[in-house]
Amino acid sequence: EEWKDRGAAVSIQRHVDSNGNQTHRIVKKGVQDFNFGRTLGEGSYSTVLAATDRQTLTEYAIKVLDKRHIIKEKKVKYVNIEKNTLNRLGDHPGIVRLYYTFQDERSLYFVLDLATGGELLGFVKKLGSFDEECTRFYGAQILDAIEYMHSKGVIHRDLKPENVLLDDQMHVKITDFGTAKILDIPPQTRASNSDGKPQLDRQDQDFANNIGIPDHERANSFVGTAEYVSPELLTDKSACKGSDLWAFGCIIFQLLAGRPPFKAGNEYQTFQKIVNLEYQFPPGFPAVARDLVERLLVLDPTKRLTIENIKSHPFFEGVLWGKQLWKQKAPRLK
Ligand code: ADE
Repeated sequence: EEWKDRGAAVSIQRHVDSNGNQTHRIVKKGVQDFNFGRTLGEGSYSTVLAATDRQTLTEYAIKVLDKRHIIKEKKVKYVNIEKNTLNRLGDHPGIVRLYYTFQDERSLYFVLDLATGGELLGFVKKLGSFDEECTRFYGAQILDAIEYMHSKGVIHRDLKPENVLLDDQMHVKITDFGTAKILDIPPQTRASNSDGKPQLDRQDQDFANNIGIPDHERANSFVGTAEYVSPELLTDKSACKGSDLWAFGCIIFQLLAGRPPFKAGNEYQTFQKIVNLEYQFPPGFPAVARDLVERLLVLDPTKRLTIENIKSHPFFEGVLWGKQLWKQKAPRLK
């Protein structure tokens, strides 16, 4: 029997002693309850391993984080952000679910959904680009997951094809919430500076301060990936829900074109292209998709399409939104 308490699930063990008396023991899952397998991915502070629950034989992906390294590099806050956001987003098919967390002397462990298909980026690279049908399907699932995330007050801030995983049904599972922002205060009640610009909160400051600084010189080295960073983060150092929709526009462009819209030799040049809205559609880019991307890659975040607008855009015509979208068979990638 299992029940879950804020992502940290426990199992109840029943014991019957020699006199026939029953006792129950609540046991938290730990390292010893899993068989660890192949490496699925490696980040600067963590490794993701495939693992199997010894009792249920359920397969998971376990993110193993090195405590000493995290403390030394002052990343404790971001590890907590990741755990808290995942706990807040526990109930959507398009978002990697956190089942258990535990630790030992050396490491922290996050037990997550296993996405056996790996990164969406891998498929884009392998195929060169997607056709309109596949872009519509994967775009719709990504958008549905963003809508859920935003409804729970979470901005991802680092959406890109590497953070879009695919499960055994080739359905989307968004991952990597270590750089997410949790909205707790309604934005309109936030204090303003004397210049009328909203005051930055700590999450925005930390996030923005790390942009444009070479990795080895960063005090706090997390940053949205250059190619998908929104212009408002570069100019005002602030992210909003619209920042995820900028990244969504970049992803739609990339699926159809085979490359992200803003790409240059280095990060600085990429940022220049972004703030100048300097990008071009390749020949043959579908007109209806071009219209959608042009309404998403808009410098002023308040002038971008909203999620509702995107859902009713002609590019997504015929898509069944909501629960139906997750019951559909994925189109074969070709
Ligand atoms: N790589 C990183 N996270 C993963 C996950 N949850 N499933 C599969 N591969 C991954």
